[in-house]
Amino acid sequence: HHSVIQNFASSSLSVDTESLQNQIDELATFSDTPAPSVTRILYTEKDVLARRYIKNLMGISGLSVREDAVGNIFGRWDGYEPNLPAVATGSHIDAIPYSGKYDGVVGVLGAIEAINSLRRSGFKPRRSLEIILFTSEEPTRFGISCLGSRLLAGSKVLVKALQTTVDGQNRSFLDAARAAGYAKDQDDLSSVFLRKGSYSAFVELHIEQGPILEEEGISIGIVTAIAAPASIKVEFEGNGGHAGAVLMPNRNDAGLAAAELALAVEKHVLESGSIDTVGTVGILELHPGAINSIPSKSHLEIDTRDIDEQRRNNVIEKIYQSAIKIEKDRGVRLSEFKIVNQDPPALSDKSITEAMEAASKELNLPHKLMISRAYHDSLFMARVSPMGMIFIPCYKGYSHKPEEYASHQDITNGVKVLAVTLAKLSLN
Ligand code: GLV
Ligand code: MN
Ligand code: MN
Ligand code: MN
Repeated sequence: HHSVIQNFASSSLSVDTESLQNQIDELATFSDTPAPSVTRILYTEKDVLARRYIKNLMGISGLSVREDAVGNIFGRWDGYEPNLPAVATGSHIDAIPYSGKYDGVVGVLGAIEAINSLRRSGFKPRRSLEIILFTSEEPTRFGISCLGSRLLAGSKVLVKALQTTVDGQNRSFLDAARAAGYAKDQDDLSSVFLRKGSYSAFVELHIEQGPILEEEGISIGIVTAIAAPASIKVEFEGNGGHAGAVLMPNRNDAGLAAAELALAVEKHVLESGSIDTVGTVGILELHPGAINSIPSKSHLEIDTRDIDEQRRNNVIEKIYQSAIKIEKDRGVRLSEFKIVNQDPPALSDKSITEAMEAASKELNLPHKLMISRAYHDSLFMARVSPMGMIFIPCYKGYSHKPEEYASHQDITNGVKVLAVTLAKLSLN
């Protein structure tokens, strides 16, 4: 098999970069904020239209398309040994508020183009190749990251939680899912769980979302591990009141409690002493939110990550201790301290990273091993399949903002490495 693939890789693989870029641009128009920003939130009208767009492209590529109860979408190209565990690839198309065109999207549209290029080359897969569009990698609407892949990986905790999960407008997850055409006949979302051994491999193509590849002039990043993410919701309740009349010694300002905790997050993260530990307060809301009213309630959401799980957990514990101290010192009530998720890191599988390295070599593309500081659906797919990720450079490492950009050449390289890797794994 080896010589066949080497020959095929170096000579007969062509990527239709122009069509792919047109698709990336067209998908970006399904957005709730003006270009160049993209906002595409789970189960909204724009998300449903974008999903339809992808399913249509999958159909045009000759894939058989199915969807599960939460809207993970699967497009399969049957191999000549269709009963073997398949080789899967994919990513997400939901986009956080005011983000860009490439995060996730390159791994979905790029996967469809990788399949197209394999077909054009005359390649015949042995194991089936399957593209997965994962539902809600981003936590925007329901506060749950990697919702689709978490469920695919068999999270019973999530099945239970989703029965009562609501969004910021108090719309229930199940109701929103039904309105988008999912979760139809059942509230039991465990139907989404993958059967063990469904896939022999999972590979995700993604922009780096960091500056390393561009800075070093390297075309391909081969991900060896994904950092461990956690997120926490915190609420303080104090006494509101008139901003002029209530004297300073008599205040229990919930807003200042939140501000103090935000600074404590930064302090505890920096105290870890490792550049790999990060923490962010991306949401900080004050109630009632009027200039002349002392905040009576505050709400924070804290994101913290590390490649070292224990070190990240230590940071979480210190944040909790700070919250308790602030409660006492400021005479406010810590009415919620909820760890929403506290996920372990994931390691790539050697068989997959080796296939990706071999593919990069055959394509004469400079590559390096690296970790992913962002999380991805691959974090959860690693629980049910050997996993690997391909990174491509992106402009200045920008991501989660409208300036996000990856060049045609880099996208083309990524699609080629994905195609050759899928081919190798399919024949394995
Ligand atoms: C996913 O988008 C992340 O925040 O890493
Ligand atoms: Mn993202
Ligand atoms: Mn992403
Ligand atoms: Mn992401």
